[in-house]
Amino acid sequence: MSLDWITPADRLSALPPYVFARLDELKARAREQGLDLIDLGMGNPDGPTPQPVVDAAIAALQNPANHGYPPFEGTASFRRAITDWYGRRYGVELDPDGEALPLLGSKEGLTHLAIAYVNPGDLVLVPSPSYPAHFRGPLIAGGRIHSIILKPEQDWLIDLGSIPDSVAEQAKILYFNYPSNPTAATAPREFFQDIVKFARKHEILLVHDLCYAELAFDGFHPTSLLEIPGAKEIGVEFHTLSKTYNMAGWRVGFVVGNRHVIQGLRTLKTNLDYGIFAALQSAAETALQLPDVYLHEVQARYRTRRDFLIDGLAKLGWTVPKTRATMYLWVPCPPGVGSTDFALSVLQQTGVVVTPGNAFGAGGEGYVRVSLIAECDRLQDALQRFHQANIRYQPEAVIS
Ligand SMILES: Cc1ncc(COP(=O)(O)O)c(C=O)c1O
Repeated sequence: MSLDWITPADRLSALPPYVFARLDELKARAREQGLDLIDLGMGNPDGPTPQPVVDAAIAALQNPANHGYPPFEGTASFRRAITDWYGRRYGVELDPDGEALPLLGSKEGLTHLAIAYVNPGDLVLVPSPSYPAHFRGPLIAGGRIHSIILKPEQDWLIDLGSIPDSVAEQAKILYFNYPSNPTAATAPREFFQDIVKFARKHEILLVHDLCYAELAFDGFHPTSLLEIPGAKEIGVEFHTLSKTYNMAGWRVGFVVGNRHVIQGLRTLKTNLDYGIFAALQSAAETALQLPDVYLHEVQARYRTRRDFLIDGLAKLGWTVPKTRATMYLWVPCPPGVGSTDFALSVLQQTGVVVTPGNAFGAGGEGYVRVSLIAECDRLQDALQRFHQANIRYQPEAVIS
């Protein structure tokens, strides 16, 4: 029997196609054709989870006390580990009972926050380019998006002055993310002070995504929104264990900040899920308590790859600024070539997967994102293939 009488809800058809899913299809096709893919497309860390975390998970699995439904709001000891970590990292004091909530990965929480707070027609400010959940969550909720186009000449920072007062007055939420996926841009503390002032003036909820809190190099320390006085009154901040601790498959993240906002998200989630398997929360606690040597290892891995790839791309004509954080390079397409066309031609000609910048919104057009998720010998193979296929950054055509 045909099911053509049942159609998905309008909220699904309002969504633009998820480019990563489309990339997956293309990758599968390329593999079928026998191409040896070098996949630098996703932000999926390639290292193993630290052994003490795996050991803690195994021990917690053996404990029948962990086998039932976990508490809705997360285990008390994981929440305490989160607020202790926050105190150590940022000197910010948080109440583990109301100002911290474990999540099934931060993507889940970022999206559900919009379901909990955005009514159909509400205006949400979202930079473009940005991590897709920042605009897809509000779209699923029926919100209207005002895209703040980011520009290289402003170091990909949000220009708060460019947001008309009439827009700011209507806006309910502003999502933002520094260090940034996809641009790898970082924001100085003064920027955070300005955005808190802006949000307080216009009564906008700030949602900061500090996914790359620890993936920073060369002595740079990303700022937490909650370090800024007054931020907790108008903001929340999302974190993940996926990147820092190579735990993307475990699905563990958390949100901290304003207790009323966290309570709203918790109420929604109480109706949707039962939270994270308690054994994994126990292992996640171990991750947050690891000595800094683990962090230094993971930082060194990405820093080495960053330097290697930036040098190699320079030999092919690209000038890519040295990033101070994240696991990405944000690489301009050759002039006149669109980001989807460029990513597809790189995939077809070389088997190297990069993500077209427009997957992150219209503001990402003209760029591709390259993830530093392969060892230098594989990155060398990728560069060699670019060289052989004559994929290089050609400056403007010379007019004779
Ligand atoms: C900026 C940003 N936020 C959130 C996420 C999702 O992280 P999680 O694995 O915690 O869902 C990602 C993943 O790439 C990201 O880049």
